[in-house]
Amino acid sequence: MVNNVPHTGSGPAATGAVGGLILGIESSCDETAAAVVERGTRQLSNVVASQIAIHSPYGGVVPELASREHLRAIVPVVDAALREANTTFSDLDAIAVTEGPGLAGALLVGIGYAKALAYALSKPLIAVNHLEGHIHAVLLEHAASLPATGPLLALVVSGGHTHLYLAEHRDNTWHYRNVGHTVDDAAGEAFDKVAKLLGLGYPGGPWIDHLATHGNPDAVPFSFAQIKPKVHRGGQRTSDAPFLFSFSGIKTAVLRYVETHAMAASIAIRRQQITATTKPADALALLAPQTLDQQTLDLLASFQRAVVDDLRRKTFAAAEHYGAHGLLISGGVAANRELRTRFTRAAGERGLPIAFPALSLATDNAAMIAAAAWPKLLAGDFAPPSLSARASLPLGAETALP
Ligand code: KG4
Ligand code: ZN
Repeated sequence: MVNNVPHTGSGPAATGAVGGLILGIESSCDETAAAVVERGTRQLSNVVASQIAIHSPYGGVVPELASREHLRAIVPVVDAALREANTTFSDLDAIAVTEGPGLAGALLVGIGYAKALAYALSKPLIAVNHLEGHIHAVLLEHAASLPATGPLLALVVSGGHTHLYLAEHRDNTWHYRNVGHTVDDAAGEAFDKVAKLLGLGYPGGPWIDHLATHGNPDAVPFSFAQIKPKVHRGGQRTSDAPFLFSFSGIKTAVLRYVETHAMAASIAIRRQQITATTKPADALALLAPQTLDQQTLDLLASFQRAVVDDLRRKTFAAAEHYGAHGLLISGGVAANRELRTRFTRAAGERGLPIAFPALSLATDNAAMIAAAAWPKLLAGDFAPPSLSARASLPLGAETALP
């Protein structure tokens, strides 16, 4: 049992946590990551060991393989993060680790390691919600360009999540309220599934981002069906209902388009060729815009435009509804260039400050975990010795249902 780790209530003064040097550890999905961040804002290192090559042949993350790879990578990744930061274990003020949400087996590797480290070093252990981490990936570098008071609206849009949160810094603590979510697939999941459907590489988001610029976004008219769950009376949001997204329909619409436009045969050939490639350069050549047919490029551009437009419409409607003072967009899909361009333009038109993470901080990383842990270190909000993985850990209070 971990019994000499300071926990809730012991406070920073009691632990001498004044330098603010935090080692963050992230292992919730398919990236083993460690980073050292000073006082929540200065990245001293940010090391990410990606498992893309391991999961790529399966077109998605295989949980058992993910856990095994985390076990292999965790020690060298933490070592590299300390080395790059020119720091030793004894310099650290706290160890922060992702508690959830994510794959239970994957999370447990990071948590087990972080607990053992905190115990051995007699340093505080801080549990961080992965979604809060994504929000702090933006605050880490851009807090100064966003209003310091009043609610900010955060869109966390990744392979596992499409969530809207109101985030507000009050009484030295960040408070979150969940005001929107997807009722089925996450937006990044839709990018990955559509890419898989069209015989492109994994993960699909970066490929579609790259290829969509060569297609006509108006070629295929995709529309998002009005979502009418109980909280939306007569198809209209009631004033306090959450903003809802749905991305499984567009994936089916792409499938139907492929079937009705006789694209299946050429996709099957491409898929076979991609599966046989061993070098990234060969995949790049196979999926070069000049190699792909215009119909595929148009389909990708139309898909991306439709998803980005839906995210943009609902995010700005929520910002207006809740009187947000600024916007922050984070998660893997926040790396998307069309999303950045269209959101930036819309924010400019409304005079709303908006911030995105650096590309290295958009997808999963541990710097965001260490950054989110800094206010918790100041508040003495430490994890109990019983800390364990919480695969479905929510962030913030839910919007009340009518
Ligand atoms: O945040 P992240 O690394 O992991 C999760 O927490 O899910 O996000 C990964 C997701 C994948 O679905 C990937 O396809 C998507 O982010 N993604 C992108 C782009 N880069 C990554 N989606 C669209 N455009 C991109 N440039
Ligand atoms: Zn993530």
